[in-house]
Amino acid sequence: MTTTAEGLATAVGPAVEKALATLLSSARAFGDSYPDDTTRDNRYALRPADATHAAGANRGWTTSFPAGMHWLAWELTGQDEFRVHGLRHARSFDRRVRAGDDLETHDLGFLYTLSCVAPWRLLAGTEGAASDEDRAAAAAARDAALLAADHLMGRLLEPAGIVQAWGDLTDPAQRGRTIIDSLMNMPLLSWAGEQTGDPRYADAVRRHTAQLREHMLRPDDSTVHTFYWDPVTGEPLRGATEQGAFDDSCWARGQAWGIYGFALNHLATGDPELLDAAERCAAYFLDHLPADQVPYWDLVHTDGSAEPRDSSAAAIAVCGLRELAGAVGDADRAARYTAAADAMLLSLVEHCTPGAEGVDSDALLLHAVYDAPKGNGVDEGCLWGDYFYLEALVRTVRPDWARYW
Ligand code: GLY
Repeated sequence: MTTTAEGLATAVGPAVEKALATLLSSARAFGDSYPDDTTRDNRYALRPADATHAAGANRGWTTSFPAGMHWLAWELTGQDEFRVHGLRHARSFDRRVRAGDDLETHDLGFLYTLSCVAPWRLLAGTEGAASDEDRAAAAAARDAALLAADHLMGRLLEPAGIVQAWGDLTDPAQRGRTIIDSLMNMPLLSWAGEQTGDPRYADAVRRHTAQLREHMLRPDDSTVHTFYWDPVTGEPLRGATEQGAFDDSCWARGQAWGIYGFALNHLATGDPELLDAAERCAAYFLDHLPADQVPYWDLVHTDGSAEPRDSSAAAIAVCGLRELAGAVGDADRAARYTAAADAMLLSLVEHCTPGAEGVDSDALLLHAVYDAPKGNGVDEGCLWGDYFYLEALVRTVRPDWARYW
């Protein structure tokens, strides 16, 4: 009988080939423009115009995921076209941060880690650099990422010591609120701290992540999606969901952000309590998977439910579990996380890809959910699902891959 690891070893090569072919064709089709957050009927349309942006503009929180995928693809293939697309994104993000265009969000970490830190990591050293032009582009990307990190630091609220998630800092509905996803935005600050030697960045990471661990990870190891602090006194107030089923439920993607985000912040800070938090998130997530290993959009739903799955939560969790396997320093736990990641990734390849389903789609991964309560992007592909699926594949075929985060 074939084991999961053997099954994955057979499936991963063709899965990578298919993903790269789809990615290249989308990169050519979209050029300098950006696709929408999610597909509609399994195809990406141009990002819609809003009051101040034309259709296809670089706005919102998901436009760095194509950039991240182009850098992953360049690492895998060495194909110059991917590097050219990646550098084009870096220039677009340089413009965005200098123009102060749509920066009022904690998601600056997602945006600038993948669009600017990644090319800096890949091109600034002599080893990967193809030319002086590449090195100059890497230096510009570094400057843009540092500007973004400073903007993110401006969202650190005193005295709570948390980074506000959404809205401008005077918005009464958003003041003092942060979300579990923000864990993934801290690596931009950790990187800025390493680059500049300024201890303020690491201090912000340490305080923000400690608050999330203490107040957003529940005693049963599930997480709450968002949490409010009193902006004047810094007192922790209450949890609330935005994209989960209800306030006390466990939104699947939030739990996956918890696995990967706590693990990354443990690696940056060395704080063992963050490693423990990541393992607790993983335990709850794995205990609430259906038989086929792809979670429903909220972990309150279980086998037999007619609710949609969120494949993107699984893709994020695979990356987080691979990181955890390397971090725990215990062979049994590492083997358990690796086996769980292998099973989840194999199920994604077999059940959630256009090739496996015979679906005509330019998404790499089908069956994600953006925001079920608002009926937004339900059972569709999405840019972050595609990115983390490709990162999961890269982590599988190149176990020594150096992360961008
Ligand atoms: N970070 C936004 C989301 O996961 O939907």
